[in-house]
Amino acid sequence: MPRPQAPPATGAATAVAHPNIALIKYWGKRDEELVLPRTDSLSMTLGIFPTTTTVTLAPGAGHDTVTLNGHSAQGEALRRVTTFLDLIRRQSGRSEHAVVDTVNTVPTGAGLASSASGFAALATAGAAAYQLDLDATHLSRLARRGSGSASRSVFGGFALWHAGTGTLTQADLGSYAEPVPAAAGLDPALVIAVVNAGAKAVSSRAAMRRTLDTSPLYEAWAASSAGDLTQIRAALLAGDLDTVGEIAERNALGMHATMLAARPAVRYLSPATVTVLDRVLRLRQDGISAHATMDAGPNVKVLCHAADADQVADALRGAVGPGAVHIARPGPGAHLLPAAT
Ligand code: PMV
Repeated sequence: MPRPQAPPATGAATAVAHPNIALIKYWGKRDEELVLPRTDSLSMTLGIFPTTTTVTLAPGAGHDTVTLNGHSAQGEALRRVTTFLDLIRRQSGRSEHAVVDTVNTVPTGAGLASSASGFAALATAGAAAYQLDLDATHLSRLARRGSGSASRSVFGGFALWHAGTGTLTQADLGSYAEPVPAAAGLDPALVIAVVNAGAKAVSSRAAMRRTLDTSPLYEAWAASSAGDLTQIRAALLAGDLDTVGEIAERNALGMHATMLAARPAVRYLSPATVTVLDRVLRLRQDGISAHATMDAGPNVKVLCHAADADQVADALRGAVGPGAVHIARPGPGAHLLPAAT
């Protein structure tokens, strides 16, 4: 895998990464510490809502300083970043603390997780600042440790994140994302309907754990997800977006079914989610290829042909109101920005 760019010699680096939406979901960890998933997953990286992160080494500083959208990070957000920098420091054999400045362009409260773009950008900028010379595969492994889905945002377009197999050590080495080929004519868009911008009641980490521990449906979904992955890869290669959407929708609904069967149930879907799902069904009845996927929240992302995206967005605006619908095309992988002169 090519390197995103040669690391600078200055001890400072800036990287950009975009969010991704899974079409075959990651739900459930085999190992929480190493962030090893139970199943393979597959996503599309978006061309909107980039995160830009600058990491600057601060020799002599007694701690890391983290700024998120101009505000000093505290508590859990700060702990996640410093734990991740500790990992980079261990791998690079260096001990300096750092100043991290992150700007997220996801509209405030859009209800879209920013951890994927956030940790992909932090891994890319952090590795460069600490002179850790990693190719894209190893960057993906590193980003995984910050947030599982971040492993996929290292790549643009469609990406497959391997769960890894064998012992924990072997799986750690084998668990990374890589680009997935799709037919040249495939011209997808994801139309994002924000039905609720609030923070989620249960973190995805806690919800995954509860689902794995208590849901009698989990193993059946995990087994069927392997088949979904094989079939969606074939559909991507064949340029068959309708089949890609069909598989993505059933995979997401299956994931939510595992959560609903957890004890107690984890329910992210709201009445407004179901209203949007009805609109998507109506679009299909009107002959438009549109299929829905939902993550750890009530918002709906609708996969369609780019040529139909405006029409799909109009239909969804009717359900969730203006200003709450965004159109995304496939976007680039994480990359370093040239150093300022
Ligand atoms: O990477 P996390 O811990 O934010 O978990 C992401 C889980 C889902 O968004 C629900 C599915 C996925 O594959 O992105």
